[in-house]
Amino acid sequence: MRIRALQTAMLSAGLLLPAQRGCRMPPASSVHAITLRTEYLVDPLAVDVRIPRLSWIIDGGTTRGVTQSAYQIEAASTPANLAADNPDLWDSGKTTSNQQNQIEYQGPQLTSRQQIFWKVRVWDQTGAPSEWSKPASWSMGLLNEPDWSARWIGDPLPSVDNVAATTLRHRFTLTSKPSRAIVYASALGAYDLHINGQRVGDHVLAPEFTDYHKRTQYQAYDVTPMLQAGDNVIGALLGDGWYAGGIGLAQALIGKPRNIYGDHPRFLAQLEIASATRTGTMERIVTDSTWRVTRDGPIRSSDILNGESYDARNEMPGWDKPGFDDSHWSVADVASNVGTLLVAQPNEPIRITRDVRPISVTEPTPGVYVFDLGQNMVGWVRISVRGATGTTITLSHAEMLRDNGTVYTDNLRGAQQTDRYTLRGSSAGPWTQRDNMIGIPTDCPQRDERLGWMGDIQVFSGTSIFNADMGAFLTKWMRDVRDAQTPDGRFADFSPQPFQQRLVEMKRGDFMGVPGWGDAGIVVPWRLWQQYGDSRQLRESYDASKRWIEFIRANNPDLLWKNNRGNDYGDWLNADTMNDSTMPRKGGEVPKPVFATMMFAYATDLVSRMAAVLGNDAEARQYRALFNDIKTAFNRAYVTEDGRILGNTQAGYALALHFDLLPEVKRAAAVAYMLEGIEAYHGHMSTGFHSTYRMMLELSRAGRSDIAYTLINNTTFPSWGYSIENGATTIWERWDGYVKGRGFQDPGMNSFNHYAIGAVAEWMYRVILGINNDDDHPGYEHFVLHPVPGGGLTWANGSYNSIRGKIEISWRTDGLTFTENVTIPANTSATVYVPAKGVERVIFAVQSGTYSFVAH
Ligand code: BGC
Repeated sequence: MRIRALQTAMLSAGLLLPAQRGCRMPPASSVHAITLRTEYLVDPLAVDVRIPRLSWIIDGGTTRGVTQSAYQIEAASTPANLAADNPDLWDSGKTTSNQQNQIEYQGPQLTSRQQIFWKVRVWDQTGAPSEWSKPASWSMGLLNEPDWSARWIGDPLPSVDNVAATTLRHRFTLTSKPSRAIVYASALGAYDLHINGQRVGDHVLAPEFTDYHKRTQYQAYDVTPMLQAGDNVIGALLGDGWYAGGIGLAQALIGKPRNIYGDHPRFLAQLEIASATRTGTMERIVTDSTWRVTRDGPIRSSDILNGESYDARNEMPGWDKPGFDDSHWSVADVASNVGTLLVAQPNEPIRITRDVRPISVTEPTPGVYVFDLGQNMVGWVRISVRGATGTTITLSHAEMLRDNGTVYTDNLRGAQQTDRYTLRGSSAGPWTQRDNMIGIPTDCPQRDERLGWMGDIQVFSGTSIFNADMGAFLTKWMRDVRDAQTPDGRFADFSPQPFQQRLVEMKRGDFMGVPGWGDAGIVVPWRLWQQYGDSRQLRESYDASKRWIEFIRANNPDLLWKNNRGNDYGDWLNADTMNDSTMPRKGGEVPKPVFATMMFAYATDLVSRMAAVLGNDAEARQYRALFNDIKTAFNRAYVTEDGRILGNTQAGYALALHFDLLPEVKRAAAVAYMLEGIEAYHGHMSTGFHSTYRMMLELSRAGRSDIAYTLINNTTFPSWGYSIENGATTIWERWDGYVKGRGFQDPGMNSFNHYAIGAVAEWMYRVILGINNDDDHPGYEHFVLHPVPGGGLTWANGSYNSIRGKIEISWRTDGLTFTENVTIPANTSATVYVPAKGVERVIFAVQSGTYSFVAH
């Protein structure tokens, strides 16, 4: 290493830490606790976790080396008590700890509806306290069944012959404006809640997709400002949603397209109003037989897969306001028992996040207009139209254009994905249309599928967390995963699994228990722990994880996963499935038993790690021993003396390296064979869903980022670049979804909006930006910044919003000098690598703050 380079880098980096520089103590006020969250959410209104967990981020200002040496939380029953430093619920006292998330509330047991106001202050590394944070709050949900007096109501007739949406309405009178009003609402179906002419909240498609036979989420909204003294109206629009409408694959799997969980959509609401004048009294407005319902409104049908038909001639102006005449509506039908568990929604809602305007309009055939939004996307269309009464406008949604400029819908399979708007004639009607949204990690949003396919998120979960705050979302979905696990321990291929019961009745055991898919039940909790330090998630998933391992073991005593692999998709959509004569046609796919055994080993490895985190050392050792035994069996059966893995595929070597399945002496050979495999594919990948991003990571781990950069820079297929050159604005499901001259792949399975091979973004975060978590310090208490330039890039910049704050990195190089700017959040530390010419890299241990490193 050239000393001068190191010195220059250290000087430019201002690397000398505060103590070495002559310790300047930051003024107390320069450090603040911000972004206070409860169970990953900001000020949630209904939490049903009995011991909620708190977190905050530390804003260290411009001071470097900020750490939290202690914290104090105060929790009070009123804002006034909190402001007066009277923490009547809980005072943690000054607690010596650097922990700033996953902190369990330790006050008295919480009860339904209870409001908790809290604040936190932190002591920095000099021992100086910050000011108290701004107050935050959470409210408990309805924790016990008797808390609910609302009944499930709906139209008297099920959604079978008539599939129009149900409109529900109830008028009530208040003597005064309330001091606080919270409404708890849910549906077997999908609902929009209205009060006094306004839509309540910003949720869409609430209560979202769960296994309604097991659990249904409810939402809570603060509607205090919407209520008034005198007459008030509460109402809702109720559609079929996932409960009674179409669900992907239903027709194919169980021979009916809709009404999977039930055929009778229902709505539930409980409005609780605290009187402003009589303290301590609560009035309740609940769904019951006094409500009125109709199916005569404008929404003639609404379906997640097929779209919506809206007839503006049936609009009912003022239906959600006082003064509307509903005397001709029916009396609501009350269900006696719907058999579901009501749970508070733990995840961020599905909501509208932005408006997108078309970038071009064309008319490829007379009367047919194509609006190009410039981006493959999901959402709703807002239109303003004028025209004669009864005119119907048909809106089809598609991902690609045919060569003649018309929209390509063949790949939607059974999903009509079409909205119809019939004009009332008198005036323009702007109307937001429902398209499709998720609440679960779906495989794709367009064709008749849209299911929580486990293999896809198993590979994409890492990327998804780098891209967005997924803590609450995946916490919710992991419940769906555990709900769908079969008694014998198999995780489902997708969760929720709406057809499980029916498939079992039909004596079909498929769509459960597939290598690489079921493993999401273990991989996703592990990712939550790595990225958020969420050990509670590990605890909640641990038994389910063990049951999955034990299912595989029981069916495969020789530890090679040859039996009971369900539908066995393998390393899905590898190069062998491509339809192109210029590429080698066979030899891309890792043999399925080899793939399955590697997944078995990997999942076992993670279970052993989980046990260790949870302090269960005996089981950690037991599963470690099982992992070693699987590894031995794998090597004996599938790996030759000279390190060739059965099938001799790129994928096989990538996965074996990634899951640490080879003896140390064979790793170098595996890397060489992997490179040979890439060469044989003319410098391209032959990998599938599971191995693509893992091969990228392994190339970099082996010091061959140059090859990884070649793969990501490729523009001939299979490559990401090829799809981008052909108009992709979202990741394609297949490498050859569309090929110039040849046209589209098989429309039976050809999505242009499928995240699985987009998992390469994890490589981009980890290698181009170089942001890497550290398993010895989960949740970014400590992390590694290790950018590896290459591929002709002269600069990169990006960030990750970690649970401890925003990590930023940007670098620039002209080939001689490398400049790297980093921001390390307060109360974290990082090991920073700086590539330097002539030396491999320079490594720094860095405390919080912003730094600039220059290496020559
Ligand atoms: C889905 C996938 C899924 C797969 C199982 C497909 O139809 O779209 O992404 O993982 O089935 O092989």
